[in-house]
Amino acid sequence: MTFIAALLSSTQFAMAGIRPGAVWPDNRGIHINAHGGGVLRCGDTFYWFGEHKADTTSSAMVGVTCYSSKDLEHWTYRGVALKVSYAKGSDIERGCILERPKVIYNKKTGKYVMWFHLELKGQGYAAARYGVAVADKPEGPYTFLRSGRVNPGIWPVNLANPDTTALTEAMNRKPELQWWTPEWMEYIKQGMLTWRDYDGGQMARDQTVYVDDDGKAYHIYSSEENLTLQIAELTDDYTAHTGRYVRVAPGGQNEAPAIFKHNGTYWMITSGCTGWAPNKARMFKASSIFGPWEQLPTPCVGPDADKTFGGQSTYVLQLGDNFVFMADIWRPEHPSDARYIWLPITFADGVPVVKWTDEWDITSLLKNR
Ligand code: DGJ
Repeated sequence: MTFIAALLSSTQFAMAGIRPGAVWPDNRGIHINAHGGGVLRCGDTFYWFGEHKADTTSSAMVGVTCYSSKDLEHWTYRGVALKVSYAKGSDIERGCILERPKVIYNKKTGKYVMWFHLELKGQGYAAARYGVAVADKPEGPYTFLRSGRVNPGIWPVNLANPDTTALTEAMNRKPELQWWTPEWMEYIKQGMLTWRDYDGGQMARDQTVYVDDDGKAYHIYSSEENLTLQIAELTDDYTAHTGRYVRVAPGGQNEAPAIFKHNGTYWMITSGCTGWAPNKARMFKASSIFGPWEQLPTPCVGPDADKTFGGQSTYVLQLGDNFVFMADIWRPEHPSDARYIWLPITFADGVPVVKWTDEWDITSLLKNR
């Protein structure tokens, strides 16, 4: 090899890669605008869906964007997969809050199903709804089906017979029963808010969806005022809840769930609740998706690991035996300039580790996916 050829190939090697936190230009040279998102693989093509963020507001002014790639490194803009509506009063009216979209493919119906967190326009974060939309092609266009609260009138399977008289009394003891007192936390754990929302349905904010090996899909979301995660089974067509659901880590204040399965163990990486500011990631494991879930220390290692490297989890992408941790570095003052952290997950004694690296070659993971 000549000196020039060697230099070129070493430059290519050095440049090949994912640089967490940097500007990531798409095929047009524009920073990718797909935040709080996830990636769906269809054959040899990957589709990345995420929130389009405007320059000055975090509200949804455009919708859910889609990019595609064959190597996970070079991304082509495919347009707006789910558009916000210009119709006044629409659930997804322009100016609503539409966060953390994820798409799964349903083999039975041949449809692509998008789930997201929806807050109705002008209501801040009060609505706490899920939204669901479907499409015939991965890139869309997606048709909005419905938004709502989860499983109204149904108890979680791991809170089957709560003492509703005691919970009602506790709810009525406002303001004596103060937030964050040990007594209040005890009632939260016992399901005070599950009961409060029993008739209208459970709150659904930060969310993801997951398809298990047996084809069953699950909606995983922050519920109960972001204090408790819930995992709800989806119907065979993935567009609704079956009514079977569990509570996970009651009172633990987990957001940003990202789930994956390795050698029969389910792993979930989450964050704490600090708005757009980063905090220390948490990790959970279980041998059944319905739990029990056991909490472990953060999987993050390296500079700023205790702040998840400045980011917040959004998704874990499986590539054969390999997994990629995906997170967002939010920029609330300039939302469209939010950045991405993608890092390989390694395993130490069977436990996931997310180690910071400035630059890495994601294409090497495609060889044995
Ligand atoms: C943290 C959540 O993870 C984000 O998706 C977003 O809802 C912000 N909170 C809003 O403060």
